[in-house]
Amino acid sequence: MTDIASLQSDILAQILAAGDETALEAIRVAALGKKGSISELLKMLGAMSPDERKTQGPLLNGLRDCVGDAIAARKTQLADAALEARLKTETVDVSLPPRPELQGSVHPIAQVLDEITAIFADMGFAVAEGPDVEYDDYNFTKLNIPPDHPARQMQDTFYVAPQTDGSSHVLRTHTSPVQVRTMLNQKPPIRIISPGRTYRVDSDATHSPMFHQVEALVVDEGIHLGHLKWTVEEFCKAFFEIDEIELRARPSFFPFTEPSLEWDMRCDRSVPGKIIFGHGNDWLELGGSGLVHPRVLANCGIDPVRYQGFAFGFGLDRMAMLKYGIPDIRSFFESDLRWLRHYGFAALDIPTLDGGLSK
Ligand code: PHE
Repeated sequence: MTDIASLQSDILAQILAAGDETALEAIRVAALGKKGSISELLKMLGAMSPDERKTQGPLLNGLRDCVGDAIAARKTQLADAALEARLKTETVDVSLPPRPELQGSVHPIAQVLDEITAIFADMGFAVAEGPDVEYDDYNFTKLNIPPDHPARQMQDTFYVAPQTDGSSHVLRTHTSPVQVRTMLNQKPPIRIISPGRTYRVDSDATHSPMFHQVEALVVDEGIHLGHLKWTVEEFCKAFFEIDEIELRARPSFFPFTEPSLEWDMRCDRSVPGKIIFGHGNDWLELGGSGLVHPRVLANCGIDPVRYQGFAFGFGLDRMAMLKYGIPDIRSFFESDLRWLRHYGFAALDIPTLDGGLSK
């Protein structure tokens, strides 16, 4: 029988000499693998007499354990050494500048929307929203625009294929259907703004088939034109950041308001490509408004004898164009990165009333 002690010292010497994990694995297989030298010896235990087994058994098991432990220890040693060597060659230069990161910016419409929301929130208005694909009923009929009313042609409409339940849908032509949704679901007092996308069949430098409006609606007892005027005035002062403004109201017509007014703000356009707000000989159109038509209140389940309301609707894109000197509405929706970099706002700018281009 092979001398166990010399076999052990032989294998242990090989283990110590193993230079890497592959060599170590080969030694393990040769000793402890299925046909390894130690495994073969262990197999012979079965054929021994009980006495022999009693002495040889512990010796062979001891040999197996001792070799197994030595292999595990050498393995850790080799791994540590390999890590050590790698750490010595790999260095991280923490003084290198970081790779340039593409930085996004806030779209002027999102910025203006934040500004407008902040201004109205200060005046106690909540934000209400509605879907872009709207019931014909909410976009027109409940707003006192019956099916054959000529006002439907005022706003060239994108019609959506009739629905299976028979209801007719359109891409909303204004944000006024959100008034309807709010009044149907809420009892006065109501004080909301509803900003969002709107759609009309129209396209040139100042019209885009998709554009944005923001609507304001107040319904309460005793609401009159004075409340409307004050609100438009306060909003314009805050939005355009000027204390002295002059507003002009022109009579107008909307089927859902009575009386209806359009608001203009005094401005100076004498310098080409520039608008100065607050003084001058020109007028800037802001948008439509009026006292909510009693029939609209009644259509939405609100008693028109007890309650009155006012509403106005301004173009959000138009507001952004005026405030930030953006000449073409179509550029808002072209996703031209150079344009976005020029007109966009830094993402961490918190909307404040003293806004302005943040670069
Ligand atoms: N909805 C109107 C439009 O799109 C604007 C408006 C809103 C007028 C609210 C009066 C009251 O032109």
